[in-house]
Amino acid sequence: MNKAFYLETFGCQMNVVDSEQIMALLQGIGYSQVDSAEQADLVLLNTCSVRDKAERKVYGHLGRFKPIKDQRPGLIIGVGGCVAQQEGEKMLEKVPYLDLVFGTHNIHRLPQLVQQVEQNRQRASITNFQDRETRLNLFPERTFQETVTRFVTVMQGCDNFCSYCIVPHVRGREISRSSHEIITEVRGLVAQGVREVTLLGQNVNSYNLKDDKDISFAQLLQQVNAIDGLQRLRFATSHPKDLTEELIDCFGPLEKLCKHIHLPIQSGSDRILKLMNRGYTVNDYLKKVADLKKVCPEIRLTTDIIVGFPGETEEDFQATLDLVEQVGYVDAFTFLYSPRVETAAAKMLDDQSSVQKQQRFDRLLKLQQETSAAIWQTDAGQELSVLVEGESRQGDGQLFGRSTWNRIVNFRGSADLVGHTVTVKIAKVLRNSHIGELVEPR
Ligand code: SAH
Ligand code: SF4
Ligand code: F3S
Repeated sequence: MNKAFYLETFGCQMNVVDSEQIMALLQGIGYSQVDSAEQADLVLLNTCSVRDKAERKVYGHLGRFKPIKDQRPGLIIGVGGCVAQQEGEKMLEKVPYLDLVFGTHNIHRLPQLVQQVEQNRQRASITNFQDRETRLNLFPERTFQETVTRFVTVMQGCDNFCSYCIVPHVRGREISRSSHEIITEVRGLVAQGVREVTLLGQNVNSYNLKDDKDISFAQLLQQVNAIDGLQRLRFATSHPKDLTEELIDCFGPLEKLCKHIHLPIQSGSDRILKLMNRGYTVNDYLKKVADLKKVCPEIRLTTDIIVGFPGETEEDFQATLDLVEQVGYVDAFTFLYSPRVETAAAKMLDDQSSVQKQQRFDRLLKLQQETSAAIWQTDAGQELSVLVEGESRQGDGQLFGRSTWNRIVNFRGSADLVGHTVTVKIAKVLRNSHIGELVEPR
């Protein structure tokens, strides 16, 4: 009999890619995917623990599955990802109806684990860190989805230990995949119809920095750029301290490299950056931004900012506002600081009230929204290159794609344009997307 799984994914793009692997592995043992837990024999959550809210969400979601399991005791419920990695066996104690806990380095062992639980109905938890040989090379091919744009993992893990961050604790140390494997994967994707890849890693530009047995990240970009049939290339996320001159220079000659970089600053105050253990100063950062703009004047930046780090003063916060104004980010992901277990910042004195933090957060958000709107507005009336990703869900003859700045553009056109780069004249700028008209090739 055919078995069914239901999978929910939280967190960052790493988890999105891991979930693609999970889907492929489960299909390999006879499971097909369904879109509700009620129809499933196996329910899995791929989780995130970067902030407390994300972690609590997991327990909330698990609670939703309990009544289903009460009715159908044969249902298997499992948790993977970063909360699973952090909590391990403790999760089985906390959630009595949970069957399976698998960590971030154990995805390739999932089929075996699921089969074990199916057969002997014993609860299982596996969260040990694995080395690269037993992990990265075992990943199955992801051939089940036809899409124009895909993520390709080039490195995993993090060695930076920013003082607020749980990621190094739940993802382990940095490891880079061999360039040969990456190029082979991208070539394979292009042969299947993929036209854009985003090279992915917690700190993608730390690729191979630890040892130089393989090529540099800039060289990897050059090699991917040279792959026939690929139209666009992106990468995320970059750490400012590892943004090398060689990498900055790629934004000039590499014609497939999109003119956008996500470069998290976190704070505009040197004092806070030091407490955060970020490894750069505001001046170091601004110098790199200036170099990027010199090589590629049209480049647009996005960033991440944490508000309310322990000990942040009004002066520190004002420095962040000043920096945001100076750089002119086209978008920023802003977060309220959330203390995380095992991190250094969790032990620092945090004496601001939550009201004060929220007020700062709102001020930053307002500034950023105004900046974003003003920059996106400059696209109005412009003819932009758009890689067409698909037909809009409404099914009203609309297509959608993205500009080089990763902005969604909706416009009317025929479905055979999917996978092609077209010129679209921007007619209207909305809050999160553009509406445009196809410019017929002359
Ligand atoms: N590797 C990436 C980011 C990973 S986490 C980098 O170094 O830039 C994504 C973002 O979550 C971070 O950039 C940071 O802004 C935010 N973040 C991480 N830990 C946090 C915490 N404890 N509280 C609030 N925000 C946090
Ligand atoms: Fe977290 Fe810092 Fe590593 Fe990014 S670089 S994942 S913020 S520890
Ligand atoms: Fe969250 Fe883990 Fe990504 S903590 S942000 S899913 S690496």
